Amino acid sequence: MGDITRVGVIGAGLMGSGIAEVTARAGLDVVVVEADTAAAEAGRARIEKSLGRGVDKGKLSAEERDAALARLTFSTDLDACADRQLVIEAVAENEAVKLDVFGRLDKIVEPATVLASNTSSLPITRLAMATERPERVVGLHFFNPVPVQKLVELIPSLLTSDDTAANAAAFASDVLGKTVVRAPDRAGFVVNALLIPYLLSAIRMVEAGHATPEDIDNGMVLGCAHPMGPLRLADLVGLDTTKAVAESMYEEYKEPLYAPPPLLQRMVEAGLYGRKSGRGFYDYTRGE
Ligand code: NAI
Repeated sequence: MGDITRVGVIGAGLMGSGIAEVTARAGLDVVVVEADTAAAEAGRARIEKSLGRGVDKGKLSAEERDAALARLTFSTDLDACADRQLVIEAVAENEAVKLDVFGRLDKIVEPATVLASNTSSLPITRLAMATERPERVVGLHFFNPVPVQKLVELIPSLLTSDDTAANAAAFASDVLGKTVVRAPDRAGFVVNALLIPYLLSAIRMVEAGHATPEDIDNGMVLGCAHPMGPLRLADLVGLDTTKAVAESMYEEYKEPLYAPPPLLQRMVEAGLYGRKSGRGFYDYTRGE
């Protein structure tokens, strides 16, 4: 694929905005595609806020922030990705939506373009089979918040070429400065295979009245030196995303430990998605 200078990011929610930000900060030209203008504006605002925080903390200068913003273009049309060398999909964790995006992108971008997915749990092989270039489809799984978390999981499918995997790994490590671990194309990859049962166990403890969210989180923060407790972390990940990932893992393994508990189902049905919607296990509407 040669040196990558032009990247596309599809979806500018929690993850897509972070991926677009770090890619622009690394000096690359980034086109961000969202579902509609309001979502594109929200994505731009999220990136501006995050870059502003970086300036406040002295991690980048005002000039670097402006240069990164100038490298970002927002669109609501996938055709804007026509000249991209690498496109990273970060739309919601919904298989039908992702298959549609991969099928359409495949017809828009150059044959050599690599299509990557940030999916947390869907098989890369299935996304690859929605295209005519399965050898150029790979999983690149970032962690939230993307500018802070150092890890990227690289997930080659059975059909991903060695070149594609090597180029995607080099992009994540050499260009973005992340540490890459290789994961199998199995629901949950490496990190979520361990993390999701843990988050679901904490939700089951709340559901059973075993302990309050505050006590569970304090237990893990103060007792095990975790930077954040499991319920605050589930709120940060997004309860809708946590539920979707758990469902994919349950579908794959049929193990009860991956089944989303009823409390999680009800909270998502009630629109309580966690930090991004203002309320989950905690209330974020008062600036928490
Ligand atoms: P999110 O709900 O914050 O953002 C999803 C975005 O996709 C929304 O802004 C939505 O408008 C946009 N979108 C939906 N359909 C679209 C389309 N057809 N074209 C363009 N944009 C579209 O979700 P989040 O958390 O950013 O997750 C995105 C992906 O990243 C999911 O696959 C998720 O599993 C994965 N992921 C999430 C992590 C997390 O901690 N939240 C961590 C790692 C991966």
